[in-house]
Amino acid sequence: MKGKTVIITGANSGIGKETARDLAGRGAKVILACRSISKAQAASNDIRATTKSEEVYVKQLDISSLSSVRRFVEEIKREETRLDVLINNAGISAPSEQSITEEGLELTFATNHLGHFLLTNLLLDLIKKSAPSRIVIVAATAYRFGEASEFEFMPGYPNIDEYGPLGAMYCHSKLANVMFSLELAKLLEGTNVTVNCLHPGIVNTEFYNNSSKYLQNFGFFSRFFFKSPTEGAQTSIHLAVSEDVDGVTGRFFSDCREEKLEEIALDKYDARELWQRSEQLTMKQ
Ligand SMILES: NC(=O)c1ccc[n+]([C@@H]2O[C@H](COP(=O)([O-])OP(=O)(O)OC[C@H]3O[C@@H](n4cnc5c(N)ncnc54)[C@H](OP(=O)(O)O)[C@@H]3O)[C@@H](O)[C@H]2O)c1
Repeated sequence: MKGKTVIITGANSGIGKETARDLAGRGAKVILACRSISKAQAASNDIRATTKSEEVYVKQLDISSLSSVRRFVEEIKREETRLDVLINNAGISAPSEQSITEEGLELTFATNHLGHFLLTNLLLDLIKKSAPSRIVIVAATAYRFGEASEFEFMPGYPNIDEYGPLGAMYCHSKLANVMFSLELAKLLEGTNVTVNCLHPGIVNTEFYNNSSKYLQNFGFFSRFFFKSPTEGAQTSIHLAVSEDVDGVTGRFFSDCREEKLEEIALDKYDARELWQRSEQLTMKQ
């Protein structure tokens, strides 16, 4: 990965941090795009110490805030001449109560889908210029429990029931990750930019601690059976670096292998609709 530049969102902990460590160890210039500079700086110091890489950098990005995404992209475009791999990794699960961002968006949807939608679109010219290049989207098998009809809630104030203990809004947002990834892959056909999404496995990270009580308990009792963060990072790393996936695009992976998607993720009308709504909410604001 020498000479290549990689951006990873939410890289200060869990899967994102271990993905960053691996790619830095392979010689890539890695930019940790994180909301907390102090946490990101601590992660960067740790990665630099273990990999001996000096090419690990920190940039502030709150992916749930459209204005923060725009500021981040401006900075990247000022400073970077290439972007070989973008890894959309940051995510939250099911907050214990409804939250709305300062821009009026539902927080889980804004963090997991809308912010990344805007980020990816604004960085596309740099990514295309660096082709062959790759976009990797960390989704989840929870997409199966999502419902495209619930995307209707995007701009507003979802019914509080949406925050049921299993995090319905999380599932909708992960379905959106998969649909976005398939739609973007189609749009980028012929550009030598690939787009793939993945399920990292059930991984022992901060993810469950920052969730509803139900998921916290699930995390607490099950963590001995979970993958470690290093194990959980393997599919992201595979999609970012492996020659086996050269030219492979528009697919879903789990355990570094392609997995067939459920019908729910393949509806072309829903995917188009999601794209248009996401565009209205992010690019046209
Ligand atoms: N763990 C699992 O079992 C599992 C299963 C399926 C899918 N996933 C997916 O894997 C991805 C990584 O999660 P993880 O398990 O590694 O959890 P994690 O340890 O909680 O990491 C999540 C990362 O996202 C960051 N983040 C959250 N909100 C953000 C925001 N507004 N702006 C910027 N960064 C933000 C967090 O930063 P802070 O430290 O500042 O909060 C953290 O760095 C997520 O997309 C998740 O949906 C995880």
